[in-house]
Amino acid sequence: MSTSPAPHSPTALIIGASRGLGLALAQEYLARGWQVIGTVRPDARPGPLHQAAEASQGRLTVETVDIVHAEQIAALRQRLEGRRIDVLFVNAGVTNDPQETVGQVSTEEFTRVMVTNALSPMRCVEALDDLVTPKGTIAVMSSGLASITNNISGGWEVYRASKAAVNTLMRSYAARQPAHGRTLLVIAPGWVRTDMGGPQAMLDISESIPRVVDVVTAQAGKPGLQYLDYQGQTVAW
Ligand SMILES: NC(=O)c1ccc[n+]([C@@H]2O[C@H](COP(=O)([O-])OP(=O)(O)OC[C@H]3O[C@@H](n4cnc5c(N)ncnc54)[C@H](OP(=O)(O)O)[C@@H]3O)[C@@H](O)[C@H]2O)c1
Repeated sequence: MSTSPAPHSPTALIIGASRGLGLALAQEYLARGWQVIGTVRPDARPGPLHQAAEASQGRLTVETVDIVHAEQIAALRQRLEGRRIDVLFVNAGVTNDPQETVGQVSTEEFTRVMVTNALSPMRCVEALDDLVTPKGTIAVMSSGLASITNNISGGWEVYRASKAAVNTLMRSYAARQPAHGRTLLVIAPGWVRTDMGGPQAMLDISESIPRVVDVVTAQAGKPGLQYLDYQGQTVAW
């Protein structure tokens, strides 16, 4: 699966890169000359990420992890021993039915969304952060819907709560880091046409992800945590 990376080019590790925004992130970093490690779930059939890897002359490596299984995150960390990561981007996420209120959702569904969107991304951050260079970047795909301040329209109740939770957990993580530590970002990519975003979403992937990568790149070397949208604007917590 892997080929030795060329020296000196930076490396991005994208967790959850099989499709949608994560696949586009992997493709965007690849197009910008980076080494890329993109993950799919272990049971994934060969798909577009594998095709991109085959065409990448060794610059894109496909790895596997299902983030809800802590032992798979630990195994991924072991396999990546010795790699230097410049950008760790935890993108994987799920939603439930956006119309479902917290009064209607089953405990199992609430748990699935919370574990996938809040606990598991943070486990990835905690397990993989020592691979990230001291001036590197750790980004988690959040959402504009994570903003507590901006939640006046309601809807997406459980999903919102899961993304607000991951934002809060990133703040707690940030509070434990040294003052001149890594760049930490929670990113709102906009409402984008993907399997999750749906066909009515405002943005094409091509209108979101290149800007997300521009925003992440522009923040490189700035320590501390920020909640930014795909246009680089600060989102209210
Ligand atoms: N699209 C939007 O409008 C929008 C807006 C704000 C935020 N976001 C966030 O952006 C991220 C990507 O969303 P998307 O629109 O690209 O959604 P998507 O098309 O549904 O893709 C979701 C990605 O997450 C992966 N994933 C889900 N559960 C996983 C798990 N347990 N372990 C590993 N990978 C897992 C999926 O892998 P599989 O292929 O194996 O399922 C897939 O690669 C999510 O965090 C989402 O909440 C999206």
